[in-house]
Amino acid sequence: MWTRRTFITQTALAGMLAATDRSQQSYQLSGGAPLRPMTTQKIARTDLAVSRIAYGCAKLVPLNSAPLDASAISSAERLVQTSIDNGITLFDLADHYGYFKAEEAFGKVLHRSPRLRQRIVIQSKAGVRGQTQPWLPGGYYLDCSREHIVNSVEGSLRRLGTDHLDILLLHYPDALGEPQEIAAAFEDLTASGKVRYFGVSNHTVSQIELLRKVLRQPVVVNQIPLGLALCDVIADGLNGNLADSTRVTGIIDYCRLHDICLQAHSPLQGTFANLPADANPKAKEAARVLARIAAARSTTPWVISLAWLLRHPAAILPIIGSTDAAHITENCAADSVHLDREEWYGLLVSAAAALQS
Ligand SMILES: NC(=O)c1ccc[n+]([C@@H]2O[C@H](COP(=O)([O-])OP(=O)(O)OC[C@H]3O[C@@H](n4cnc5c(N)ncnc54)[C@H](OP(=O)(O)O)[C@@H]3O)[C@@H](O)[C@H]2O)c1
Repeated sequence: MWTRRTFITQTALAGMLAATDRSQQSYQLSGGAPLRPMTTQKIARTDLAVSRIAYGCAKLVPLNSAPLDASAISSAERLVQTSIDNGITLFDLADHYGYFKAEEAFGKVLHRSPRLRQRIVIQSKAGVRGQTQPWLPGGYYLDCSREHIVNSVEGSLRRLGTDHLDILLLHYPDALGEPQEIAAAFEDLTASGKVRYFGVSNHTVSQIELLRKVLRQPVVVNQIPLGLALCDVIADGLNGNLADSTRVTGIIDYCRLHDICLQAHSPLQGTFANLPADANPKAKEAARVLARIAAARSTTPWVISLAWLLRHPAAILPIIGSTDAAHITENCAADSVHLDREEWYGLLVSAAAALQS
């Protein structure tokens, strides 16, 4: 039986598998001006202005534990170059992405094109650790201790070959995390100049409040799962019963209230753009609405899905993670699509109904 959750899991898995079979062709980064400039937006309480769509590097390299090879570096370079050609200037990483090879590959790309570093904003994350004990379930655990955060950033800087991260996010809220320890880590990293700005990911309102109580630095980003197929936190205002127990409501308004940049991770996971044949009728109806609007706008459902996020007044910044250069180019066209209210609500209502079914 198809459910929205199984579909999201299956598409995530399919994406990971596809990532291991990318183009082998060699690609040299030009470092020139973007071919297609993108609208930029300022990240409040920073001096950073970034493209309104970012590129996420979770699948920048094949997801296996084999050492990084020339073809993986070349493929990563092609994805980074395509992003830059389309005006993307914000790159989202995490210490452990691609078994730590995503940062390594990104570092090699930067090394080959030294002028690139000053033209882009690098965001990475800390706090997730791979388990070393085979008897532990889950495969990973969380660690937001002072020591781990600082060590993690030092590892990221080494792999990236840069002296600072523009933004560091705490990847997930660590249930054992002590806000005072996190504050101490942020102080260390600010004093050493290794991180310019700080933010969080997958955090709820109260988790951010707890941190804000002790942090001297502002929380400038919260990166959460958000998209047309993950629209419950937006649909919240439409129907208070939509959010399930894992999604604390009010996060959108809270971030706006406190000038926290809302980043949408996995914005196209489980999208209605490519439903499986056994999808339920509500999901099929959402897909029909999406396809109709895409056809009327002479574009694709993928582009409309992203344009739907961009239309929200919270200046939501989607982090796209495509492993296909043509898809990156296609998706960046969302920057020039402005949905009207009727289209936007048509998509929300049909997506929210599918979410409930
Ligand atoms: N903070 C967190 O906890 C967290 C968690 C997950 C992800 N993230 C961040 O979010 C980023 C993006 O997530 P994601 O990898 O799930 O990416 P995504 O942009 O949501 O893409 C999801 C899937 O849609 C497919 N797709 C995208 N555009 C398409 C198009 N135009 N046509 C056909 N298929 C298309 C992709 O396949 P193709 O590869 O074939 O294009 C991919 O499998 C990650 O790289 C990471 O930086 C953060």
